Amino acid sequence: MSDIAAFHTLLQRSPRILAICGAGLSASSGLPTFRGAGGLWRNYESTSLATPGAFGRDPALVWLFYAWRRHVCLQADPNGGHRALAALAKARGSDFLCLTQNVDNLHERAGHPPDTLRHLHGRLFDLKCSKCKKTAYTTDDPLCPALAPASKDFPAGDINPLLDPRSPVPPIPTAELPHCPSCGGIQRPGVVWFGENLDGRMLREVDAWIDAKPVDIVLVIGTSSVVYPAAGYAERARTRNTKVVTVNLDPDTEAAEPGDLVYVGDAAELLPALLAPLTTTSSL
Ligand code: APR
Repeated sequence: MSDIAAFHTLLQRSPRILAICGAGLSASSGLPTFRGAGGLWRNYESTSLATPGAFGRDPALVWLFYAWRRHVCLQADPNGGHRALAALAKARGSDFLCLTQNVDNLHERAGHPPDTLRHLHGRLFDLKCSKCKKTAYTTDDPLCPALAPASKDFPAGDINPLLDPRSPVPPIPTAELPHCPSCGGIQRPGVVWFGENLDGRMLREVDAWIDAKPVDIVLVIGTSSVVYPAAGYAERARTRNTKVVTVNLDPDTEAAEPGDLVYVGDAAELLPALLAPLTTTSSL
């Protein structure tokens, strides 16, 4: 594993940084990842919960899943990794851009400036009309009227029993699901589902930022790097001789390539140490 001092030396001569974040960044805050032990796609059937078809077939079941994920997110707190990235954003301003695959709101709750943060896969707290596609950004308040019908009090622990179609718990009545104030269609969670495109305008903005000036470091944090286009940014960086720095709990992560600086461990611990020269670690 590379030593922290090597990164500090690199950091001092690297004005422009791009970060790609995955579920591993929020793992220490208690949010499940997707593919590791206890991962969401290990425990739940993604095709019945995270696709447009699933929502068309049973919007109440899909809302139950996302309301539970929102509920778990609101029980969690940002960790040192979120705070280190927020401090890096404040230190570097427009020379830093954080692309997160995470739909939680922990970056924001760590104080990450919104102009240097892009949610590639949407946000748990945004609503989008399934009919007119209008996006209604909601507060993160679980009692927000638009979200209240789907924010049930969940039993501690697993909700698989609630998601089981044979569950004794009646699904949320369609009438109680959030409806679009403009067209009356049922609103859906504002996240990107399997088989859907990401926001094209956002992707063009990201490409423009990357192409505007050389990027010195790409930080690949807590992601398996198996989902595109998120996984493609580090690949592109390697062809441009940009230094890729991988932070991952798995010593055998496939997110790292030969030539990367690799830091094995918890992102919540490693990021404050790695970014210490640019951030006041005492506040992380
Ligand atoms: N610190 C650093 N890395 C961690 C930690 C941690 N505490 N815990 C887990 N990891 C690493 C795992 O080793 C793994 O490489 O984080 C990665 C998590 O990988 P995934 O579960 O595949 O999550 P992610 O890469 O974010 O998935 C990408 O897939 O299903 C879609 O939309 C979903 O955004 C998600 C995308």
